[in-house]
Amino acid sequence: MAQNPRTPGTALVTGASSGIGASVAALLARRGYRVFGTSRDPDRAPAIAGVEFVALDLLDPASIEACVARVGDVDVLVNNAGESQSGPFEELPMDAVERLFQANVFGAVRLTQLVLPGMRARGFGRVVMVGSMLGSFPLAYRSSYVAAKAALRGFATAARREVSPYGVRITTVEPGSIATGIGTRRTHYRADGSTYTREYDTMIEHLDANERGGISPDKVARTVLKAIEADKPRQLYAVGSNAPVVFALQRLVPRELVEKITARKHGL
Ligand SMILES: NC(=O)c1ccc[n+]([C@@H]2O[C@H](COP(=O)([O-])OP(=O)(O)OC[C@H]3O[C@@H](n4cnc5c(N)ncnc54)[C@H](OP(=O)(O)O)[C@@H]3O)[C@@H](O)[C@H]2O)c1
Repeated sequence: MAQNPRTPGTALVTGASSGIGASVAALLARRGYRVFGTSRDPDRAPAIAGVEFVALDLLDPASIEACVARVGDVDVLVNNAGESQSGPFEELPMDAVERLFQANVFGAVRLTQLVLPGMRARGFGRVVMVGSMLGSFPLAYRSSYVAAKAALRGFATAARREVSPYGVRITTVEPGSIATGIGTRRTHYRADGSTYTREYDTMIEHLDANERGGISPDKVARTVLKAIEADKPRQLYAVGSNAPVVFALQRLVPRELVEKITARKHGL
């Protein structure tokens, strides 16, 4: 018998120590969910009312297994943790690209695989992948990040049909520019004396300014909650950066124009 989706159950929110994850964890706790939030260093995570912090390093497969063993059954999984990586495509070190995919894609995929059997057995589950609008609107000098977010959405969208007969819904939420301070935590890979320096610096300046002027993570949390509590969660939700207008435009105008507008928004 499927659990009533409106009955709060147990939620696991990855990367709950700051930004969007902290807002989602706090909102779910206020809604009455039992909430586990993750951090690589739970002792240093901020206190959030109703949120219990557990350790998770998505770069370490053993840590992913241990996290799931520690929290037990979960009804809601929000795969939010992630690294924001930038650099000219030509100069991205492959080990950095591999690390990004392990944290932003494979870690979330593995975590989801581990909670799915329980969700299926109980006849209810909600999985939300926190992607990025850049996954839908690729941007120069963000190729690894764009590709990782598009890959995460691909896993999520393809798996939807497999799990829906068991009461499990998988959704992707793509935030636009959100003021979380992530700009100060980005990883940058640009070679000394790079031929791309001028354009790269221009793009980053605009990216960080857009982020600082972005919407609050609390708004994203409300969209994540909608994705969790909808009777029929949509394949994709987007929030911030005028998402409704921008996605409508994408359906109406040639791809090359969308590509130009995305670049222009970042000073290119
Ligand atoms: N802010 C934006 O404008 C924006 C836009 C689109 C998409 N997003 C996406 O939204 C999500 C949250 O972003 P945010 O802005 O809230 O960033 P944030 O404040 O920097 O939070 C990132 C979280 O990820 C965790 N984390 C990082 N690397 C990890 C790893 N290897 N293993 C486990 N946890 C890890 C961090 O936790 P600890 O350091 O405590 O481990 C932190 O809580 C990310 O997936 C990001 O790509 C953000």
